[in-house]
Amino acid sequence: MTHIFLYGPPGTGKSTVGRKLALNLKLPFIDLDRVIETNAGISIPQIMEQQGEPAFRDLESAALKDLIAEGESVVALGGGALLRQENRAFVESNGKVVLLVAELATLLERLQGESGNRPLLTGDLQEKLSTLLAKRGEHYNSFSMLIHVDGKTAEQNARQVQDILGWHHLSAMGEYDVRVGEIKTLPFASSIIVTDENVARHYLEKIQTVLQVSKSVVIPAGEAHKNLETISHLWKAFLENGLDRKSTVIALGGGVIGDMAGFAAATYMRGINWIGIPTTLLSMVDASLGGKTGFDLPEGKNLIGSFYPPKLVLADPSLLLTLPERELISGMAEVVKHGIISDPELFELCSRGMDWVKNNLEEIVKRAMAVKIKVIEEDPYEKGFRAALNLGHTVGHAVELVSKFELRHGEAIAIGIVAEAKYAARVGLAGEGLVEAVTESFKALGLPIQIPEAMPREEIIQAMRVDKKKNAKAIRFALPVEIGRVELVDVSDLESVIIE
Ligand SMILES: NC(=O)c1ccc[n+]([C@@H]2O[C@H](COP(=O)([O-])OP(=O)(O)OC[C@H]3O[C@@H](n4cnc5c(N)ncnc54)[C@H](O)[C@@H]3O)[C@@H](O)[C@H]2O)c1
Repeated sequence: MTHIFLYGPPGTGKSTVGRKLALNLKLPFIDLDRVIETNAGISIPQIMEQQGEPAFRDLESAALKDLIAEGESVVALGGGALLRQENRAFVESNGKVVLLVAELATLLERLQGESGNRPLLTGDLQEKLSTLLAKRGEHYNSFSMLIHVDGKTAEQNARQVQDILGWHHLSAMGEYDVRVGEIKTLPFASSIIVTDENVARHYLEKIQTVLQVSKSVVIPAGEAHKNLETISHLWKAFLENGLDRKSTVIALGGGVIGDMAGFAAATYMRGINWIGIPTTLLSMVDASLGGKTGFDLPEGKNLIGSFYPPKLVLADPSLLLTLPERELISGMAEVVKHGIISDPELFELCSRGMDWVKNNLEEIVKRAMAVKIKVIEEDPYEKGFRAALNLGHTVGHAVELVSKFELRHGEAIAIGIVAEAKYAARVGLAGEGLVEAVTESFKALGLPIQIPEAMPREEIIQAMRVDKKKNAKAIRFALPVEIGRVELVDVSDLESVIIE
């Protein structure tokens, strides 16, 4: 059972942030101090006064053990609850601890008038608090996952906790959890794993053992197989394996597997549950999120599909260690895209190059994922701003198709983003230096930045017209304005986008 424990000095807002966090994640919220008071039948100041601090710490340890036995929850801990090594070891083996930290001035402001309820701070608040922080400084510094709460609302702090944990509950299109971390168990029975032959070689046996799922269907790897024939093969495999309306399909693989297994699940017996276990960077930060499923026609990518969200997405960044270098680099194009759309800090991290990225994959996955989730939660069915995620994709999809999939998806998207950024600069939309910043970032990651010389421009334009994002008169492009902001613009003269 994985709980989230919020910890930190008094006044950092553990209870207020915890309540918001629990609401966002649809988990129960537990305030440990209130549980202790309920159990003891008296207030914490009374316990301290009548029984002393060691007795209070005993009650704290007992309450912790009780609550951990229950289902998953968000727990606000008392400011000294993990001083006991036993408590710390206990919570760390049953969940994640996130430390909330704040400047002394913030704490003083929040705790003014409250010290009567906080026995360790009675008297001169500033002096008591400074002493307490100095005494516990080393202890608090020993927690690695932390957020700074100063100047932010409880909701913003709760979102930041979610982002650093990689825990989200999506509700705009179906209700499902997205979690970054080690894959352990599943709350679903009677399943089949759909995967491709490359992923199967590395992970099928392991995942079957961990999830205790014996049935599997392995399909050939690659975009060339993302077609109706493979979908038909999946439907038949579901039938042969006796899947019924209560069954669950587990998509273990990259975007190709997620799109196809999701679509096959969407249409089999009018729709059965599916779970995404993305194994490529691209699928962790992009394809597995947002509920788009489908397959390609010879005329174009993703021309057939449906919105059909999974019941759960589990992303374990350690699975990326076996991903071929080219695929990892390709996935970085979508990460950079997310930085350009709304996270300048993420964009800066990407610009540090592949060595840095490889050593910080978990952070990259969590940050890039957070951008996509924010966008799709605001506009799940692409009525408006979700189209921002198409940045680089109108040109990119066309280039990918014309290359006959010689170019990886992300490579084509990098080319598309640069082409669209240059167009945005030519029409005066993109700010100064944007094209250079984007180009440099892709170069640092080893991604291509130019449409291949030999690729016929007319074919690209033709492919753009067939792209599913066309509307009657013009194609809607998401164009970068500055790092962190894109605008949706209708363009009818497609030649002008790719011909400089
Ligand atoms: N549904 C969406 O919203 C959405 C969004 C973006 C992209 N997509 C789709 O995603 C697809 C591209 O996805 P992709 O880039 O993940 O490609 P992919 O699924 O083809 O995977 C790339 C390659 O890596 C291999 N592989 C996957 N995981 C591995 C691992 N952990 N170790 C070793 N090898 C591994 C695969 O076998 C494959 O050969 C495209 O079809 C695109 O249209 C969908």
